[in-house]
Amino acid sequence: MYDRFNRKINYLRISVTDRCNLRCVYCMPEEGVKLLDHQDILSFDEIVELAKAAVRKGVDKIRITGGEPLVRKGIIDLVRMIGEIDGIKDYSMTTNAILLDKYADDLAKAGLHRVNISLDTLDSEKFTKITRGGDIQKVFEGIQAAKKAGLLPIKINCVIKKDKNEPDAIAVAKFCEENDLHIRYITEMDLEKGEFSVVQGGSGGDCGSCNRIRLTANGTIKPCLFSDIAYSVRELGAERAMDLAIGNKPLSGDINLTGKFYNIGG
Ligand code: 5AD
Ligand code: SF4
Repeated sequence: MYDRFNRKINYLRISVTDRCNLRCVYCMPEEGVKLLDHQDILSFDEIVELAKAAVRKGVDKIRITGGEPLVRKGIIDLVRMIGEIDGIKDYSMTTNAILLDKYADDLAKAGLHRVNISLDTLDSEKFTKITRGGDIQKVFEGIQAAKKAGLLPIKINCVIKKDKNEPDAIAVAKFCEENDLHIRYITEMDLEKGEFSVVQGGSGGDCGSCNRIRLTANGTIKPCLFSDIAYSVRELGAERAMDLAIGNKPLSGDINLTGKFYNIGG
């Protein structure tokens, strides 16, 4: 399906939870995060119905995000249910990899093609600081498990302050080169201040060629990460919510006062 600006919308990002087992400083507050009530989070059947409707409208690329998608109970079943939909050419997940060692094999068997993994530094103490408690060793184990399971190509999301010549980013780039991983640099953004930029080495943030819509964990379709526009799937039905989102996708983003990365899925 095409939007008003003739952009072909073929990419759906599905946030399956607003929960996360880390608390990255640029993403979530340390405590007191207002999380969704259980009944407000879409069921697997609701998510699959939406995904099917999206594929009927021309979506052929799906990414599972969060929060941290691997903390959603039964995630392997959901990955399998979506993977069984005919017509998906590219099926991926963004994860912090803390639980990937445990799930990589099952994810591959459930039909997932590949993973993007967040890694901003190679320094284990700094990693623990940035993520407020994460163990970088689990990430390394997760990367190895993903490789072994064939969840390829593996992309590394490296959040930078300003440019890719920051020491941490250089170290991560070297690690990626040595380990056959593709690096993507994501400049730290502030949705509420309307600060966003193009992902280097990826396709995000380039409004003119944006092909995405997003399903949030609480069941709204958002045509743009950098805008407050959202349509409720439960109120409008999957088809109508998607038509409205695509039909009203803004030419470019400006500001998002209501959403956060952890509940829209970055
Ligand atoms: N700025 C940029 N990227 C962010 N992410 C989360 N919060 C931010 C932010 N404020 C992205 C990171 C991470 C992914 C899950 O979400 O790239 O890898
Ligand atoms: Fe969790 Fe990812 Fe946000 Fe970090 S960036 S707190 S890993 S959702």
